[in-house]
Amino acid sequence: MLGFDPSGLLLEPGQGLARQLYQGLRGRILAGELAAGVRLPASRELARLLGVSRNTVTAAYEQLLAEGFLDSHQGDGTYVAGITQALAPQTSAVPTASPAPASVPPGAPRAFRVGLPAVDLFPFATWARLQQRFWRNPDAALLGYREPGGEPRLRRLLSAYLRQARGLVCTPEQILITSGAQQAIELCARLLLAPGALAAMEDPGYRAAGLALQSGGARLLGVPVDGAGLVVEQLAGQRDCRLVYVTPSHQYPTGAVLSLPRRLALLDWARQADGWIIEDDYDGEYRYQGAPLAPLAGLDRHGRVLYVGTFSKIAFPGLRLGYLVAPPALVPALLALQRAGIRHLDSATQTVMADFIEQGHFQRHIRRMRRAARARRDALLAGWPQVAGCATPSVPVAGLHLCLPVTNLAREAELVAQAAAVDVELNALSRYWLPEGPLSPDARAGLVLGFAAVPEVRIGQALVRLRSAWA
Ligand SMILES: Cc1ncc(COP(=O)(O)O)c(C=O)c1O
Repeated sequence: MLGFDPSGLLLEPGQGLARQLYQGLRGRILAGELAAGVRLPASRELARLLGVSRNTVTAAYEQLLAEGFLDSHQGDGTYVAGITQALAPQTSAVPTASPAPASVPPGAPRAFRVGLPAVDLFPFATWARLQQRFWRNPDAALLGYREPGGEPRLRRLLSAYLRQARGLVCTPEQILITSGAQQAIELCARLLLAPGALAAMEDPGYRAAGLALQSGGARLLGVPVDGAGLVVEQLAGQRDCRLVYVTPSHQYPTGAVLSLPRRLALLDWARQADGWIIEDDYDGEYRYQGAPLAPLAGLDRHGRVLYVGTFSKIAFPGLRLGYLVAPPALVPALLALQRAGIRHLDSATQTVMADFIEQGHFQRHIRRMRRAARARRDALLAGWPQVAGCATPSVPVAGLHLCLPVTNLAREAELVAQAAAVDVELNALSRYWLPEGPLSPDARAGLVLGFAAVPEVRIGQALVRLRSAWA
């Protein structure tokens, strides 16, 4: 009976005792708590220990024997079968424990939430009218199963938009509509990363992308970031790594823009390493001065870049609408994965978004959002209180947030807590790093401030409270 402890196998009277016992034992075997070779008590003995009939135990044992969880040696007893090793990958494929990335903050937007655009400015009346028009007399074809790549009209409109606004030339067939950038990144990971493979990402970086990359059992490799973005040279020595995730237009969260020499070096790396680049252009629409640099996908001559875009920063994240522009050679496999997974996004939202773009609302809204984000950025910069241990902000040229280094981790925690006490949301930069990196904990300290989520008046009020909290 070595290794078997029946305590905890508590059976509820009258609830299918044999079934409960079967499930209890099976659960322990799957969890590895009952290892291969452990001898189980004789049925009569276990019945006595649990206060149930011997038939109950025999029925549970027989089911487990039939399913291969137990072995019986004639006249010798009942043992846990040697299947636990075979089952082990189910548990070890779960990503290794690492500190959880920042969780979603609860409640309505407040200053200075990251990741949210000016959702208060969305033209809900127009959206509601378009939705209503769709549902009043829905096209029967749109109510059935659709193509996994998404609604053809939306893909055509996006292809025209990307060409005109981002200088990215692609066919509608290269575009897959996804459930936000998140699902686009997860699709790339499923296609391109085998369990155990190495996937590189910026460190600090977008931890949600890291989770998507890890979801199939890949391992993460953090690559440092400096004022010119991802330090591409550091990829060269990583022979086992063939995929990198980057945010070149506006590094998340430091705000660095990947320089042109680095862009070309990264494309060169992909060509030489036979590797892949996931380019996350999450806030590419927000550029406040100078011409935006061409996306990597627009410079790619060898079909190595998978370009990810999202409606989360122009409309709102709850919409869950994004897209992936893939090199033509990868499209069939990505479509097959999408078909096997979610099949496709809901056709009503896609159709309404297509109407929204076609009728000019989208482009108008982008301009409005860019103006608003810039004004909110300026409100933050104008009233930001100087505080000991925290760098002075410089003017961000792009995006919806800024990042300020802080002298050490203790100071970071103090500033975040003092702000929280006066209902101001500051995000700790230390949450954006991968757990194993070369930098000391203090070198990871800082604040990340989203400036677009609430209007200037509320930003001003938050700054007044912050000023008094830090006085
Ligand atoms: C770097 C980055 N990529 C993508 C997104 C948007 O993701 P999704 O489209 O899944 O909402 C965000 C949102 O905060 C982000 O910060």
